[in-house]
Amino acid sequence: MTTTDTLERPGTKTPEGAPFLIVRDIHAYYGESYIVQGVSFEVRKGEILALLGRNGAGKTSTLRSVARVGTPDLKQGEIWLEDAPVHKMKAHEAARHGIALVPEDRRIIAGLSVEENLDLAQIAPPIGWSKERIFELFPRLGERRRQEGVTLSGGEQQMLAVARALARDVKLFLLDEPYEGLAPVIVQEIERTLEQIKEIGLTTVIVEQNAIAALHLADRAIILDMGQVVFDGSAREVLDNPELREQYLAV
Ligand SMILES: Nc1ncnc2c1ncn2[C@@H]1O[C@H](COP(=O)(O)OP(=O)(O)O)[C@@H](O)[C@H]1O
Ligand SMILES: [Mg+2]
Repeated sequence: MTTTDTLERPGTKTPEGAPFLIVRDIHAYYGESYIVQGVSFEVRKGEILALLGRNGAGKTSTLRSVARVGTPDLKQGEIWLEDAPVHKMKAHEAARHGIALVPEDRRIIAGLSVEENLDLAQIAPPIGWSKERIFELFPRLGERRRQEGVTLSGGEQQMLAVARALARDVKLFLLDEPYEGLAPVIVQEIERTLEQIKEIGLTTVIVEQNAIAALHLADRAIILDMGQVVFDGSAREVLDNPELREQYLAV
């Protein structure tokens, strides 16, 4: 049970089932463009939440708002990770608090080997897993530790992006379209990677257009449409509801 209570936090705190991440009524803008229009959701510890919606629905903008990266500009709302007011943080502070965003383009750094990409992730605290432990989880990366990261296959690059986050002490994983641009066989490989993440118990928000794959992995799902939440429930409910998928998703 946690007992820190110097900061006022919304919601009732109970030992079990207390939300780990609370996103409450966030509004975010790119300049004058009002994009994230009052999004709220909660994620419990160890849970995987699928954040779904059509192209342009505001999924990436929502993730970026939570990670506090430069744009969009969060103008209203609150984001709490345990007792930490993430809405008051800058990106580097959010990262130090254990929020790891793996963007769509994966940001593998050119000119660096697999190992050097991991070393760079560990250059400053909070440090997470050792390289040895990471290579045990992903033997493929171990075999390729000296290979330049950008020359890895798409699936291996996604693995490296996940590994880099584990190399830091991650509390909340935000994955933006991890299956994007990957062949079905590689998607299966990444699914296995993410299942391992789930076994480890990392709290994760996964954004996907490939809703079916994400829903098989996720415990819960929210669907965004035009910057607003139009569904919040179990992943199972979305899988079992073709009308809902047809209305708001591409599948
Ligand atoms: N940097 C930006 N500047 C202005 N508008 C943007 C920017 N990035 C995204 N948008 C707009 O915000 C909306 C939501 O985009 P995004 O969050 O990327 O959607 P999704 O990830 O669901 O496809 C879209 O209409 C998009 O055109
Ligand atoms: Mg996106």
